[in-house]
Amino acid sequence: MPPSPDIVGIGVCTVDHLVTVPRLPNRNENMTAISYDRQPGGLAAIALMAAARLGARAKIIARIGDDDSGIYIRQVLQEEGVDVSQLLVEPGGESQVSVILVHEASGDRSIVSRPPTGRPVSPGEIDRADITSARVLFIDTLNDATLQAARWAQDAGTKVLLDPALPYAEIKPLLRYVDVPIVPEYWARALMPNEAPAAVAERLLDEGAEIAVVTLGERGAVVAWEAGTETFPAYPVDVVDTTGAGDAYHGAFLYALLQGWELPRMARFASAVGSMNCRAVGGRNALPTRAEVDQFLAAAKS
Ligand SMILES: Nc1ncnc2c1ncn2[C@@H]1O[C@H](COP(=O)(O)OP(=O)(O)O)[C@@H](O)[C@H]1O
Ligand SMILES: [Mg+2]
Repeated sequence: MPPSPDIVGIGVCTVDHLVTVPRLPNRNENMTAISYDRQPGGLAAIALMAAARLGARAKIIARIGDDDSGIYIRQVLQEEGVDVSQLLVEPGGESQVSVILVHEASGDRSIVSRPPTGRPVSPGEIDRADITSARVLFIDTLNDATLQAARWAQDAGTKVLLDPALPYAEIKPLLRYVDVPIVPEYWARALMPNEAPAAVAERLLDEGAEIAVVTLGERGAVVAWEAGTETFPAYPVDVVDTTGAGDAYHGAFLYALLQGWELPRMARFASAVGSMNCRAVGGRNALPTRAEVDQFLAAAKS
């Protein structure tokens, strides 16, 4: 039995097929890729790999297929030190796969995903003790299982961090259980098109969050918490691929919540990890260790 996890995550696990291109191809064009790579991806998988790389004990709860992709996801997550004992397998099912075109010059990415063919994780497949003994729960969508887990977490004092893969109106029933919503800019703009992202962070705080974050890509992230609202910048890096920047930010925030740091330190740390993750292709390849983040932040200060 692995030691009990600090962080439990329920959510998306994929295999990402990353193809670096000089520009987006036209219809019927045959283009030669600059490079190809395959990595596990998905919101939960990258966030938990990020937290594990930093040194946290992280466990993933998800369903994969019994296909080659599923075998690969399990193998790599295990190599990364993520507890895969609740990675459930759908017999005859196919795991989620994503094709990601990475624009070489900017590192911007275009993603096409084929969802998994298996059922979502059901409430009966989650062990209450996993949630109540963890200190942080990561979720990325609303379904019976995540709702139940979030309720259990709230009862037990386990913090709940949300990366909403659904728009506000669809994820709303979950929000009352969420302590730390961390949302991307497009999500914030969809919710309040005429307001600055800071207004969305403040609204999420008004709706019960303890800390609310809108990530803004190369402009960093705006954070609202009891002491106020502040934008924490991103860090300049040689951007190769922005795939997984947000997920790495989430993973770093999960880790930071375990450290008991003041908010500004958590926000700078997560921003550094998000930026550092842009330095190589895919969500996994540039994930830093704790020592690497500390060095990076020390160098950025001087
Ligand atoms: N081009 C970039 N240069 C430096 N840091 C970046 C860049 N893009 C993202 N980041 C870092 O990663 C964090 C999350 O990125 P963001 O683009 O907002 O998420 P997503 O992956 O959901 O698009 C940002 O807050 C920032 O710290
Ligand atoms: Mg981005």
